[in-house]
Amino acid sequence: PSSDAQAFRDAFANSKRVVILAGAGLSAASGIPTFRGPNGLWKTKSSKLFATPEGFKEDPSGVWQFYHYKREGCLSAQPNAAHRAIASFAVPAVRSRLMPSLQEDKLPLFVTQNFDGLSLRALDELSDQLTPAEIKLARERVIETHGSAFKTICLQCKHINHTFDSPLSPALAGITEQNAGERDIPIDQLPRCGGPDWKGSNRWGRCGGLLRPAVVWFGEVPEGMGEIAKELNWTDLLIVVGTSSLVHPAAGFAKTIKSRGGKVAIVNLERSEGDSDADFLFIGPCEETLPLLLK
Ligand code: APR
Repeated sequence: PSSDAQAFRDAFANSKRVVILAGAGLSAASGIPTFRGPNGLWKTKSSKLFATPEGFKEDPSGVWQFYHYKREGCLSAQPNAAHRAIASFAVPAVRSRLMPSLQEDKLPLFVTQNFDGLSLRALDELSDQLTPAEIKLARERVIETHGSAFKTICLQCKHINHTFDSPLSPALAGITEQNAGERDIPIDQLPRCGGPDWKGSNRWGRCGGLLRPAVVWFGEVPEGMGEIAKELNWTDLLIVVGTSSLVHPAAGFAKTIKSRGGKVAIVNLERSEGDSDADFLFIGPCEETLPLLLK
């Protein structure tokens, strides 16, 4: 693969449809640990317990404590230069200058495997350059394919709730990475549909059922796959950022693009599983590489 930045910029400028696929490496510079790196989550924690429906069934209290502190960590983290470089695609002026060939109404699709919400927040930060309507449009082109730490789903009524600023349950207050798992929280004190004040209303979305984090676990179908599959039909450039390319289906996107004659660029800290499909390969921290590549 080539590491010629100018050749990449030319390919980028000539593309008609671009998909960006991101993984945990995108948020590493924001202080959010990756899954499989040296300090990766799955190095010390069991993914079987914390990232499967079976694990949640076995120990909902332990799993909730884990996602509670992860959620707090995501909330206090800030988007980094790589999130901002990707978000700036959405600025129409930047877009038309960079990619004259791109159809005006076709913003790149941004697929993130991260549940930290940082890519959406990077878009919100563009409020000095974009109108609220433009930000809304750009947000619609972000697919959080592995769900969000800020959403819950009720196991009973299946209602999905956005929980950006509401406390999920008083029983989780004060849980940190250090003491997570120490409490044995009774199931009725775990986050419930309708929140801690639920008094028995049976309106849709407030049924009192047990909530689980709306993140996608192993064995579950990622979100937005239909829309992504459709987009990959037309995509002529896939930019893969900060993922080990070990977890499917996202890990298979590059092969799909290659089989349809498109190009693949990989931006990653180190060599990864996806490299064999790469036309362009930029090894280094994406928070430094991406802003230069997308300049
Ligand atoms: N810049 C670019 N790449 C980086 C950086 C950085 N600053 N820091 C780390 N990386 C790279 C690592 O080299 C690694 O290849 O990011 C990749 C992160 O890989 P993983 O930890 O495996 O994360 P990811 O690929 O997103 O995992 C996929 O696995 O457990 C599931 O659902 C979870 O979404 C996650 C999925």
